[in-house]
Amino acid sequence: MAPPSTALPGRTLISASAIQRRVRTLAHDIRTHYGDHPLTVVGLMNGSLFFLTDLTRHLPPHTRIECWRVASYRGRTSTGKLRGLDAVISGDYRGRHVLIVDDILDTGLTLHHVQRKLRALHAADIKICVLLKKEVSRRHRLNAHWVGFSIPNRFVIGYGLDLNHAYRTLPMIRVLPEARKEKSLA
Ligand code: XMP
Repeated sequence: MAPPSTALPGRTLISASAIQRRVRTLAHDIRTHYGDHPLTVVGLMNGSLFFLTDLTRHLPPHTRIECWRVASYRGRTSTGKLRGLDAVISGDYRGRHVLIVDDILDTGLTLHHVQRKLRALHAADIKICVLLKKEVSRRHRLNAHWVGFSIPNRFVIGYGLDLNHAYRTLPMIRVLPEARKEKSLA
């Protein structure tokens, strides 16, 4: 049985029903944009696991799905480096319209490098859909074409987003209290 929500860290920022409603409208907008054009969706794992699944369920049957496993975060902080892109070799992206699906746009590092990789693989058109966009000044300027929700610059968990591998299975997005400053050992 799921733990009571009071036993979970932080507080609910976006409810499960609000997520599901927004995912349906995003999928509708994406369908309208691409029409019958063949589309490849690249989902970035593990964070976009549930978003990718729920979103693509509403896309046309000929939609291709690829999952790329990349990571830039350790605990609550970005390492500034993206791991995993070298392993991407499968899939044929040449001349395809590609939609990158990710959980959250934070510094922009992940999507910047993923976009670059897709350009190198000769994708004809690359667009981005994120569930969440943090209100921060980004290190890499890029344009997310579809955004589920804009959120404050705080660490969030749930609906695929984790803290040290936990809480991904929560159906809602929860925001954690500000991290306390590490005690200096000096
Ligand atoms: P960048 O900085 O590359 O961040 O735009 C994108 C990736 O970093 C992870 N991320 C988070 N994960 N809660 C999380 O669980 C957060 O608040 C958060 N902010 C960034 C995530 O993997 C995302 O794809």
